Formats: sequence, structure tokens, C-alpha cells
Amino acid sequence: MELQTERMILRPWQDSDAEALYAIASNPEVGLNAGWEPHKSVEHSREMIRTIFSEKEFYAIVLKDTNELVGCVGFLLGDAKHSKKMGDNDAEAGYWIGVPYWGQGLIPEAMRELIRHGFEDLALDAIWEGYYEGNIRSKRVADKLGFIYQFTEAENEKDSPLHLTQDIHFYCITKQE
Ligand SMILES: CC(C)(COP(=O)(O)OP(=O)(O)OC[C@H]1O[C@@H](n2cnc3c(N)ncnc32)[C@H](O)[C@@H]1OP(=O)(O)O)[C@@H](O)C(=O)NCCC(=O)NCCS
Repeated sequence: MELQTERMILRPWQDSDAEALYAIASNPEVGLNAGWEPHKSVEHSREMIRTIFSEKEFYAIVLKDTNELVGCVGFLLGDAKHSKKMGDNDAEAGYWIGVPYWGQGLIPEAMRELIRHGFEDLALDAIWEGYYEGNIRSKRVADKLGFIYQFTEAENEKDSPLHLTQDIHFYCITKQE
């Protein structure tokens, strides 16, 4: 499945993305804010592509103008979601983009298409988004997209790749909204 916005193509991850992924994901500003370790090598990035990023509904973001791989948007489905309060037919969105591409409204644009896809093609009931306490950039994205604050939960240490118990603020948007 491939999705498109005005400036971006959202397509499945490929093994050959490993070098471009490493260039972005080795910067701690990206992973630590999203809850994962900075990538340590191209091989580490390739391993992530073959495991986590190969899940259904995870998309690489590629700029149409330059063909550069810049980030990732996707849905966690089923038990992969971070809170038991989310419904069976809900999804939890995740997103990140390389530091050089911050501040151009790219993630809100990609997320609008992912949300359309989630409600129209996947017939989801609600889409959630969670960000760690202090991640004001991610809160801005949630606000711009019309997500509404629901509750705060401490992440279970065993579910955290960083082995932390940080508070996550959860926001939601329903099909009707
Ligand atoms: C959060 C994130 C996805 C936002 O993506 P984006 O495409 O830059 O989104 P926007 O362009 O709408 O910018 C969102 C906010 O980031 C902040 N921001 C923008 N450019 C910035 C820069 N160069 N440096 C620091 N902050 C910046 C601004 O507060 C902006 O809000 P504003 O438009 O009201 O000024 C991106 O910053 C990121 O990948 N961060 C690291 C990973 C992460 O936190 N993921 C979310 C996990 S829940």
C-alpha cells in the first residue's frame, strides 16, 4: 500500500533504506523523544527495518521533490498499542522525522493522510496519539490535527525500549470528529 500527500509519498520500508534511516535515526533528538535508542550502525537500522518497521501500516516518508527518505508514520494495532484503555478497533499513531526536516509541517501533512486512510480504508473507530511529558513539539502536532486530550499514564518499564517509566499523555480523535 502506498499513500500520497502534496509533498510526500508514504510507502513500505525497504532493506535498501538502511543507510538513509541510519543518517536520521542516529541523532538522539529523534529516537529519545519517541522512546527508542538512537541507532548505532547501518546494520542496527537494517535490523529495525526487518523487524519493527516491517509491521503492517508502518510507512517510510519520502519527499517527492528530492526522493529523500525523511521519516516515518504509522499505526500500532491490536496489542501493540500502549494502553488498555484503547478500543480493539482503534489504532495508535506514531511519527518522527529527521532533525533537518523539522518545522516544515511535514508530519502534520503526512498524518492527515494517515488519518484519512485509517478511517476510510481501515474503518477504525478512533485514532490515538501519545507523547512523553515535555515533548512540546509532538503536542503541537496533536493540537494541529485536532486530537483531544484524554488521559495520562506512566509507561510500563518493560514496554519501554529505553527502560523508563515516563508519563505519556494520550490524545484521541474519533471518526465522527
Ligand atoms: C514532533 C515532530 C514529529 C514534529 O514534526 P514536524 O514535521 O517538525 O512538525 P511541525 O513542522 O508541525 O512542527 C511542530 C512543532 O515543532 C517545533 N519546531 C519546529 N521546528 C523546530 C526546530 N527546528 N527545532 C525545534 N523545534 C521546532 C515547533 O514548536 C512546531 O510547532 P509550531 O509549528 O506551532 O511552531 C518532530 O519534531 C520529531 O520527529 N521529533 C522527534 C520524535 C518525536 O518526538 N516523535 C513524536 C513521538 S510522540
